[in-house]
Amino acid sequence: MSTRLPGIVLSLLLLGMYGYAIGGDTPTEDVNSTEEVVTGNSEAGEQRYNQTCKNCHGAAGKGVASYPKVSGQEIPYTISKLETYREGIKIGPNSSLMIMMAKPLTDEEIANLAAYLKDADN
Ligand code: HEC
Repeated sequence: MSTRLPGIVLSLLLLGMYGYAIGGDTPTEDVNSTEEVVTGNSEAGEQRYNQTCKNCHGAAGKGVASYPKVSGQEIPYTISKLETYREGIKIGPNSSLMIMMAKPLTDEEIANLAAYLKDADN
């Protein structure tokens, strides 16, 4: 008497494991629930912001003259901008300034900054 699993059950199991392996390797990029994705520490972000970013973007990220407002954006938006600058990729006409500022940022600092800036201006 064999106790072979029906093929369908086996495939589902394998699919599940495959999905698990993928999910385990990549950081969550789901935007379905922004609150869940928040890993950044908003207070640490505020401190970091006030060290350098404030000089150009103004208090609470409100923006100053030609320096854009950076508060009030969803977390994934700010993270992706900062990662893009950090990679040295230009976005707007004055990106070289921002690339210089973003180069030394760690993933953690970026997450913290994004968490802070989301509600900084409220
Ligand atoms: C020397 C001035 C300066 C400093 C300091 C600075 N920025 Fe910027 N930032 C800019 C300029 C100029 C732009 C627009 C760049 C462009 O044209 O792509 C910008 C763009 C941005 C953007 C993208 C805005 C958008 O919606 O496209 C974000 C986010 C940002 N800065 C965050 C930060 C953070 C966080 C820091 C501190 C780590 C910081 N900036 C420090 C000048 C500065």
